[in-house]
Amino acid sequence: MVAQVIDGKAFAAKVRAQVADQVAKLKEENGITPGLAVVLVGEDPASQVYVRSKGKMTVEVGMNSYEHKLDVDTSEEDLLALVDKLNNDPAVHGILVQLPLPKHLNEDLVINSIDPAKDVDGFHISNVGLLGTGQKSMVPCTPLGCLMMLRDHHGSLSGMDAVVIGRSNIVGKPMAQLLLGDSCTVTIAHSRTKDLPDVVRRADIVVAAVGRPEMVPGDWIKEGATVIDVGINRIERDGKNKLVGDVDYASAAERAGAITPVPGGVGPMTIACLLANTLTACCRVNGLPEPEGLTA
Ligand code: GUN
Repeated sequence: MVAQVIDGKAFAAKVRAQVADQVAKLKEENGITPGLAVVLVGEDPASQVYVRSKGKMTVEVGMNSYEHKLDVDTSEEDLLALVDKLNNDPAVHGILVQLPLPKHLNEDLVINSIDPAKDVDGFHISNVGLLGTGQKSMVPCTPLGCLMMLRDHHGSLSGMDAVVIGRSNIVGKPMAQLLLGDSCTVTIAHSRTKDLPDVVRRADIVVAAVGRPEMVPGDWIKEGATVIDVGINRIERDGKNKLVGDVDYASAAERAGAITPVPGGVGPMTIACLLANTLTACCRVNGLPEPEGLTA
């Protein structure tokens, strides 16, 4: 079997176009412009790239972008004061504090100081609890993007066997909750899982989110399974820098029914879902109907 390639770049462009349409409608009919505030502490190069890209795409869909760049030695008190100010600013509907934070700042404390209704990352403990109990919440962007692609490909996911490899708070655990919410039978596998190849071979859906280059070989993949590769790993091969996923793409594509490439798969969906979450947060706080197809 040769897998169908799930084009995350095209899908993300479609999601952003849907967001842009809804934003234009909100402005015209309600006089409201959604606003996203992004807070970056320090000068981590990868974080700077992400933040720039987020700001650009926020403006492209017609939203207001507020960027707050703070010194690497900003105190916790000052950062919490900024979050408090953004929590109370009615022009700000979504707040994202870029992670990782410098070591002297307590990430849990900072994330849990964000108003849960503005927590467009879905990392606040209230949103984690709401998702875990099947209640309306803000859903972390990367797993939400994966879910959208899976629903688009399969329609219903009900009754499918899903394996999530990786148990991070940002991807693995919320991904498992979302798949359970769509009535999959879900296994969360991790570094201590016994017989990982056999566990993966049983799955109709494999979501790989471990951050280890090409650790899932094609012969672990069941014929016809759908493979969602969340990994973005920079490696050197043949003297060149290259981005690869957590799945060995070439061998997996020979067995899978559908697969996301790296780059151009899950990656572009994360920012698209951040914009979707900001729109959702804006609609909720204004008592307006939520945008269709852009939430879990
Ligand atoms: N750093 C890398 N990815 C993310 C993300 O999705 N959200 C936040 N807040 N920080 C990140």
